[in-house]
Amino acid sequence: MATNPSTSRGTWNTKLGFILAAAGSAVGLGNIWRFPTETASNGGAAFLIVYLVCVLLIGLPVMIAELSIGRSSKKNPVGAFRALSNNKFFPLVGIWGVLCGVMILSFYTIIAGWTFSHVFVEIFTYTGMDGAASLLSDFGNGYVNAIFALLFMGLTITIIRGGVSDGIEKATKFMMPLLILILLIMTVFVLFQPGASEGLRVYLMPDFSMVTTDLVLAALGQAFFSLSLGMGALITYGSYLSKKENIVEAASYVTLADVGIAFLAGLLIMPTIFLAQAQGVQIYDADGSFLAGPALIFQILPQLFAQIGGILGLIIGVSFFFLLSLAALTSTISLLEVPTSYVIDEHGVSRKKAALYVGLFVLTISMVISFNTGLIDNIDYIFSVIGLPLGGLLICIFIGYFWKTQSAVDEMKNGFKDIRDSWFTALWSIFIKFICPIIIIIILAQTIFG
Ligand code: PFF
Repeated sequence: MATNPSTSRGTWNTKLGFILAAAGSAVGLGNIWRFPTETASNGGAAFLIVYLVCVLLIGLPVMIAELSIGRSSKKNPVGAFRALSNNKFFPLVGIWGVLCGVMILSFYTIIAGWTFSHVFVEIFTYTGMDGAASLLSDFGNGYVNAIFALLFMGLTITIIRGGVSDGIEKATKFMMPLLILILLIMTVFVLFQPGASEGLRVYLMPDFSMVTTDLVLAALGQAFFSLSLGMGALITYGSYLSKKENIVEAASYVTLADVGIAFLAGLLIMPTIFLAQAQGVQIYDADGSFLAGPALIFQILPQLFAQIGGILGLIIGVSFFFLLSLAALTSTISLLEVPTSYVIDEHGVSRKKAALYVGLFVLTISMVISFNTGLIDNIDYIFSVIGLPLGGLLICIFIGYFWKTQSAVDEMKNGFKDIRDSWFTALWSIFIKFICPIIIIIILAQTIFG
């Protein structure tokens, strides 16, 4: 692992390595599983547009903010707030971030486990081992959930124990290009199928009568979740970033990659849903609502793969779930890195031990969820839909009114010499001090008290 002599913390070896790792954190189940299902359940293009507005107006400024805090302090989220201000409250924001990381990881691992188990479901279905296939696709089976969550967490712990450049950077550098390649091939395949156009129409033609407070909250929550914001993941990744790099440019690339892959996943999933419907697969519940959530990916898509049939159906099915597992792994890595870096920095524990202890702790919670999967929605709502925008709001307040936007701009100057004279400084400061907090407060207040 490359180390920084003054702090012996890890550092990224290359700029590309950092961008791929941060994009790997951002691109995950959130893009390929959650974004298309949210889009489908919230009226297609209307959601897509509100989501893009949230990413641009709030996501990108907050990402730049997190990276600046991380690189300036060279600390985990708790230590970072402590290092940059004397205020006693803000380290609690870091602790909230670590808690969100632990709780999101505890259910994320289970869904990631489902994606991985479905690689085998596809193979078992193809080879006629229907008993094994239906055993693995039974989400109500706590033992199967637990075993695959364990496998997934084992893999994540192993990579985190490898460190920043030898573990995280190496793994994501190989996985991200592979993921984009598989996604592109599948999207092109689906778009050429007869009947794909109906899905495309719903995805790309907005119906603004669908825009409600719930849709706006869902879009904001999705923006934070998908960009890995609000819990300090990018404070942590920023803390390993060299002073030579341009934070604004890096954040723009990461945002572009995340939005690009979510958009691509929508181009794949939305037509697929309608293809499945054309082939007789049920896509609406008895009450007329959309079959969103786990059902969408894990029930509708395998039926489509089965209908494509033969070796082609198998290849597409296996590739899809493998792709989803890869995307999930680059995100579980960052989710585990946040609490691990906290334990390393604040409690002086070695990386190998910290990753193991934190991983086992999260796994204990995952075991409980494995047998009570109904908890997933509640944990997701508290810690991602509400928790991440809340964390983002407090980060904006911290920079805007305590650490000061000027200090953040000074930090950004490393690697971006002309920033002081640029229009960007003024605009970003206005966003962080006023626009982002006001929008987040309005949306959160509407949700909680509305
Ligand atoms: N961004 C990831 C996804 O879209 O699946 C999920 C995630 C990872 C959220 C890391 C938060 C985080 F800190």
